Amino acid sequence: MAFFNTVALLNTRVAVILLALISVQAVALPQYDEDQHLGVASCASSVCHGKSKAVEDKNVMLNEYRIWSTEDRHARAYKTLLSSESKRIAKNLGLPSAHTAKICLDCHTDNVAKEQRGPKFQINDGVACEACHGGSQQWIESHTEEGVTHQQNLDKNMYPTEDGVARAKLCISCHYGTSNKMASHEIMGAGHPRLSFELETFSANQPAHFTVDADYKTRKPYISGFKLWVVGQVEMLKSSLNLMQEKLVNSEAVVPELFFYDCHACHHAMSDTRWQPTSAKKGMPPGAVRLNDASAMMLLSLLDVIAPEQHKALKAALIALHKASLVNRPALNAAIIKLQALVLELDGQLVAKQYTDQQLKAVRNNLLAQASLGEYRDFVTAEQAFLAIESITISLQQGTALETQLNLLYGSLENEALFSPLKFQNLANQIKKAFK
Ligand code: HEC
Ligand code: HEC
Ligand code: HEC
Ligand code: HEC
Repeated sequence: MAFFNTVALLNTRVAVILLALISVQAVALPQYDEDQHLGVASCASSVCHGKSKAVEDKNVMLNEYRIWSTEDRHARAYKTLLSSESKRIAKNLGLPSAHTAKICLDCHTDNVAKEQRGPKFQINDGVACEACHGGSQQWIESHTEEGVTHQQNLDKNMYPTEDGVARAKLCISCHYGTSNKMASHEIMGAGHPRLSFELETFSANQPAHFTVDADYKTRKPYISGFKLWVVGQVEMLKSSLNLMQEKLVNSEAVVPELFFYDCHACHHAMSDTRWQPTSAKKGMPPGAVRLNDASAMMLLSLLDVIAPEQHKALKAALIALHKASLVNRPALNAAIIKLQALVLELDGQLVAKQYTDQQLKAVRNNLLAQASLGEYRDFVTAEQAFLAIESITISLQQGTALETQLNLLYGSLENEALFSPLKFQNLANQIKKAFK
């Protein structure tokens, strides 16, 4: 009997550990968690996160609501759906209105299922606290208690925004899309702005409502700078491959979903004859519509410096993807599966690594070298290369010293309708010495 009990106990322990492992790996995004979302009003009182100034004696600032509501564009995300721009988009799509359409609400507010909306939940709150931190039903009471650890909050379904991969998945779900919600070419054709995203830059651009000080670091890990850039590129590549598989490969439509392609492959003046394949698109004939491969191109610039063998493998798989995209859907699927396997292999490795300043500089030199060789001719890739160069420069605390050069390069991307691949290439060539 005693023996049996011990075994049963051990089995429960194993089950608990397994469950814990599974829950870390597959945390549901806040929009799809199973808890009640109680609404901003439940977070914003003046004794909670609604103070006018940051407090000194608590481990969090407690003025998060004020920062969010006055400085953070997420607070305006629902109001955007009432604008004349949104009205035009809705009209073009044949929707009764933008602020009642699920497809718009899914990214412009915390659009959880009706049964999960608590008494103070307001659909017009926009992308508010629980859209990122998860439904607070289980932790709203306990998370303020003395001695409660971050892990205890996570166990009650607080979303792990401090974790780089989890954060990337969260931001990408709205800033790129998922199988449940996408700003498709149809939506863009109706007038929606093109979505562009880079995790490190967007994390820095969202007005911070937290401080990463010594106290913070005792409570939870924090990832920032170059590593966040790496995580963002890996997750973006994974997301885009998964979505491509679902929406391109499994579609019967004659014209494929154009969301996945380089927008400027089609959208530029016919008199601007710029065809010239880059090495990743070797063998593509003139006039080919090419897939947006910006995140793979960015990872290549990193691997070239830190892992030449893996660079070779990823490059070969990318060339194969572009070729297959001109053959048929089964060929495309096979090429996607190959890339997915490679990325999975790289994933843990790249994210766990510590990067030295020397390596950062080498990656930046490589980005500028590739740019000046004309390898970043697609607007999206040029844009990502610029964001990477800027992000590394800021990480190395050279932002002020190299401001002129960064501004020059940015100038060539500021208006995408006027983007010239040749100008970008020449500019990169001209400024690259200053970055050495
Ligand atoms: C629920 C969807 C959603 C999530 C999750 C989300 N965002 Fe956003 N984000 C938006 C929308 C919608 C806007 C545009 C708001 C507007 O102006 O109407 C936006 C705007 C922004 C902006 C301003 C962009 C600009 O051009 O100035 C930044 C920066 C940003 N988000 C960063 C992030 C980061 C970082 C994350 C992840 C921690 C994130 N977002 C998660 C939907 C979301
Ligand atoms: C996949 C998520 C997603 C979907 C679906 C989506 N949006 Fe957006 N939308 C965004 C994000 C993210 C931004 C901010 C882009 C940026 O600045 O980087 C944005 C920006 C906008 C803007 C420009 C806001 C500004 O201040 O410049 C308008 C207008 C807009 N969306 C309307 C709509 C409408 C109307 C719908 C429904 C037809 C819709 N959106 C569907 C994510 C989405
Ligand atoms: C677009 C996503 C997003 C929204 C919206 C958002 N947060 Fe955050 N929040 C983050 C990220 C990212 C962090 C930093 C990583 C972390 O510590 O989890 C953070 C951190 C925090 C922290 C932790 C500070 C610390 O020192 O541990 C608090 C508290 C917080 N947010 C409260 C709020 C409140 C209250 C709101 C609504 C008024 C809000 N957040 C809205 C993304 C968001
Ligand atoms: C395969 C070619 C192709 C690709 C790739 C492509 N588009 Fe389009 N796009 C078109 C066509 C065709 C139209 C319809 C043009 C018209 O009505 O005059 C269009 C229309 C549009 C419009 C509306 C323009 C108007 O005149 O009203 C926008 C905005 C747009 N696309 C954005 C994008 C974005 C953003 C991307 C990248 C994610 C993209 N397109 C990728 C072919 C393409």
